[in-house]
Amino acid sequence: MQPGVRKAAVHDGLPAPAPCTGPRCKSTRRTLLVLFVLLATTSTLYLGSGVLQVESSDRTVVVPLDAQSILTKCRSLQVKPGPPADFYSRKQSDRYQAGTDAVLIRNAKIWTGHRSGREVVHGDVFLDSGIIQAVGHVSSGILNKYADITTLDLDAGGAWLTPGIVDLHSHLGVLASPRFDGADDGNSNKGPIVPWLRALDGLNTHDDAYRHSMSGGVTTSLILPGSLNAIAGQGVVMKLRPTKERSPTSMLLEPPVSINGSEVPLDATPRFGHMKHACGENPKAYQDTRMDTVWAVRQAYDNARTLKNDQDSFCEKVLSGDWRSLGSQKYPENLQWQPLVDILRGKIKVQTHCYEAVDLDNFVRLSNEFQFEVAAFHHAHEAYLVPEVLKRAYNNTPAIAMFSTFARYKREGFRHSEFAPRILADEGIDVIMKSDHFAIPSRNLIGEAAIAHHYGLPEHVALSSVMSTPAKVLGLDHRIGYVKEGYDADIVLWDSHPLALGATPTQVIIDGILQFPHAHVAPKPDAHQTAPMTPKWDVETARTLEHDGLPPLEPKFRPHMVVFANVSRFWNMDEAKGRVVDVFAVQGLLNTENLGMVVADQGRVVCAGAATSCASYLSSTEATIVDLAGGAVQPGLVNYGAELGLSEIFTEASTRDGYVADPLLGQPSFFGPGGYVAKAIDGLQFGTRDALLAYRAGVTTSITSPSHTAWLSGISTAFSLGAPHKLARGAILRDVVAVHASLTHGDSQPSISTKIEAMRRLLTKEVDGEIGAWFRQVANGTLPLVVNVHSADIIATLISLKKEVEAKNGNAIKLNIAGATEAHLLAAELSEANIGVIVTPSRSFPYNWDERRTLPGPPQTADSLIGYLIKHNVTVGVGPRGIGAIGHPGVIDMANSRARNLRFDIGEAMLDAGPGLIDKASAFSLGSVNVEKLLGLELHDKERDLVATAGGDLLDYEGKVIAVISPRRGLVDVF
Ligand SMILES: *[C@@H]1O[C@H](CO)[C@@H](O)[C@H](O)[C@H]1NC(C)=O
Ligand SMILES: *[C@@H]1O[C@H](CO)[C@@H](O)[C@H](O)[C@H]1NC(C)=O
Ligand SMILES: *[C@@H]1O[C@H](CO)[C@@H](O)[C@H](O)[C@H]1NC(C)=O
Repeated sequence: MQPGVRKAAVHDGLPAPAPCTGPRCKSTRRTLLVLFVLLATTSTLYLGSGVLQVESSDRTVVVPLDAQSILTKCRSLQVKPGPPADFYSRKQSDRYQAGTDAVLIRNAKIWTGHRSGREVVHGDVFLDSGIIQAVGHVSSGILNKYADITTLDLDAGGAWLTPGIVDLHSHLGVLASPRFDGADDGNSNKGPIVPWLRALDGLNTHDDAYRHSMSGGVTTSLILPGSLNAIAGQGVVMKLRPTKERSPTSMLLEPPVSINGSEVPLDATPRFGHMKHACGENPKAYQDTRMDTVWAVRQAYDNARTLKNDQDSFCEKVLSGDWRSLGSQKYPENLQWQPLVDILRGKIKVQTHCYEAVDLDNFVRLSNEFQFEVAAFHHAHEAYLVPEVLKRAYNNTPAIAMFSTFARYKREGFRHSEFAPRILADEGIDVIMKSDHFAIPSRNLIGEAAIAHHYGLPEHVALSSVMSTPAKVLGLDHRIGYVKEGYDADIVLWDSHPLALGATPTQVIIDGILQFPHAHVAPKPDAHQTAPMTPKWDVETARTLEHDGLPPLEPKFRPHMVVFANVSRFWNMDEAKGRVVDVFAVQGLLNTENLGMVVADQGRVVCAGAATSCASYLSSTEATIVDLAGGAVQPGLVNYGAELGLSEIFTEASTRDGYVADPLLGQPSFFGPGGYVAKAIDGLQFGTRDALLAYRAGVTTSITSPSHTAWLSGISTAFSLGAPHKLARGAILRDVVAVHASLTHGDSQPSISTKIEAMRRLLTKEVDGEIGAWFRQVANGTLPLVVNVHSADIIATLISLKKEVEAKNGNAIKLNIAGATEAHLLAAELSEANIGVIVTPSRSFPYNWDERRTLPGPPQTADSLIGYLIKHNVTVGVGPRGIGAIGHPGVIDMANSRARNLRFDIGEAMLDAGPGLIDKASAFSLGSVNVEKLLGLELHDKERDLVATAGGDLLDYEGKVIAVISPRRGLVDVF
């Protein structure tokens, strides 16, 4: 017999034809019966082309030998993905790892995900066999069954418990951490349309990010190819825990049944796949214009539609038993285009990166033209402006997967709004916060939901946005995203309410397995056990819509005298002590019934204390009274790290100052052999949106150094983020602050040893020219040198260099470092060498090899980097977050839009350090006076801004910035 011509197979095919009625039925049956008999007795009728020709009394019918599988295939076309019918009676998870102990968690506050995220149950959760076996009350009957089985018994002590976080947009495992040029498996450059590619094929199981992400409570992620192709390939859903098998395949969650070959078990219930699409600017990597991209997509879907139609008409005949007219025709197949056909059949979900109204409109048009659903628009910075367009999408309103504040790094994100999540939720559209890991390390994804909550997204929606809603959009809400009997045992126990600042998992359980059996988490303050009372933003939200996403941000209201009433705390710089102190605490005001008062006149505080002592100002006709409702007055924060003032849109050269020419790589000969040193002040731009948004979030000053590509940056300048232009009063605090350079490994970089040698010569020898002159001021201790560096080995070299230079020159030099991810390895040495550290980012992440030895903080380590350095008496400042230098040696990329979050980063750093180490006054120092000190900016108290917040303070999610008091500018800006 020929291979494949097996009796059984054909036999199985006999009863299979579509239900048939009427007179033709009988003859069909008879024909097939004849076929069986003939086949059983001889194989000579096999015609070599996979068909049998059978003579019957009235006609000739041609039936393929694989009729059974064709029939099954044709029937399967209509089957929608989803859990198999017996899924809910499963006793063990398909992801169960043998030997996993049962886990009983008692006495938890359980956010179940039900009632649209509003249900909270107090009680216990019992996990076994990778499944949640009971929620709320665990009966003794259940527990008795486990009497002789090892059960971990955890007392949650009333702590919050949620399902694991589900990240709808991650590149974990395909974009490497640490970053390696050879390990970037994000995008193919084979053209705009590559639906046949699969992220699974590039998935690295040894990425350093897995543990970081799990430590933030992330248990499941959709790993997507990048966005440089219009159709970039298939994403894959995975759980982040390590598996015994150590393979990518074993990490997957319900992969499509076709995942490991074309021998697909056709009767298996199909699972959803996910296809990454992208609109707008990014796919221009392989296209000229948006028009080309959309055409490429239409052409691809047209191919798919043709293939689908061919399959459908083929199957129509098969299912009606009309084998005759099919002749020798085969089921139309095409491995390349099948994934798009699967989209048209609703088996693969469309996950698309689209930012602007034009792109959303285009894509919605495509979805209707080819009749496919869009599961989610990702990034979608303008989605909140066009809800009607979203609602027009084919058959289903897509979810919107967003960043909270990360924006304006390209034009497409220019109209981003922090109010978008709330606006979309009000429109009844599904809101998802996502990481785009490592754009935002997914460890911090819960913080994205918390910031969205701060800007108006209701608590239940914010929690759902990273748990149940993404589970639904993935088509996996039958097993993840909820705490419910029968669901996967993916659980996070929290040290506080998950939307509280710095919320940290005390335990992360995936498939019933504890991922941090030795978690290090100190208790949080009681106030953190409920969701923060966030400010009202109704006016700002309405204005955002009124101005098509670009509400004016310049402060306009500048009353001469402002009386801030109902002030509960007043933190200010104490010049004598050189640090921020709690003034009201010093005055013994903290426990009084009557809250305090702060009065500012033309930018100066003229009275601060008990309401009675400043009451006389209330009667002044000039006074504007501002009720802070228990809020605070505190120091304005200082940015160092984001290139505020040097760019409006990071990826648009026309909006940026640009990069300095590095002396080690060759500067224009015009400057002569001594070269030149660029000064940031010469390139400053005022009034950029990110600068004004930072200003409105309490960051009043920036110290910015020139952007550079290799070693030498140049001279930083200190300026006011609220000033309209350089020449305005108080706009510039200091023209010259410090000399800046970077010591990082990377593309087209001179070696570290070359850069060190350059510094050694400049600091110890008389080097001619301008570069030499600037470094002489460093060498004699006048100007600080600030070096961006992460690697402990390079830091060690710098410590030695400092000693060498000081010994040779006979005087101390001011050398401080920024970045400093590996600084904990040299904490004692840094302290001893009197080198201070500006930590950026405040929560370490291994973006690059130089940064791989992180001290991640709780729950992985008891110490955080910042806390550890402080314990070693190192002076520490904190800078904002961005994306760790991708090809740029500066501290951070694309940090401008996140400078506004500096207040939260510092508040979180205070909490991450554990109780008792950093009080609020010291935390303010981290973000203000310490940064100034380390950069050598010596200010007096008439130069320091103060910030007034209502409802809370700058270091929590409850305070809203109401005003800036600026002595140097002689004004009070009231927002
Ligand atoms: C194919 O994939 C499924 C789903 O992940 C898995 O259960 C199965 O073991 C795989 N088969 C082979 C041969 O790898
Ligand atoms: C340091 O060097 C600069 C440049 O040579 C010079 O102007 C300055 O006076 C020196 N300062 C000290 C304290 O030596
Ligand atoms: C830090 O400084 C304090 C006060 O000077 C001192 O008691 C302590 O030993 C120092 N700690 C370290 C680790 O150097």
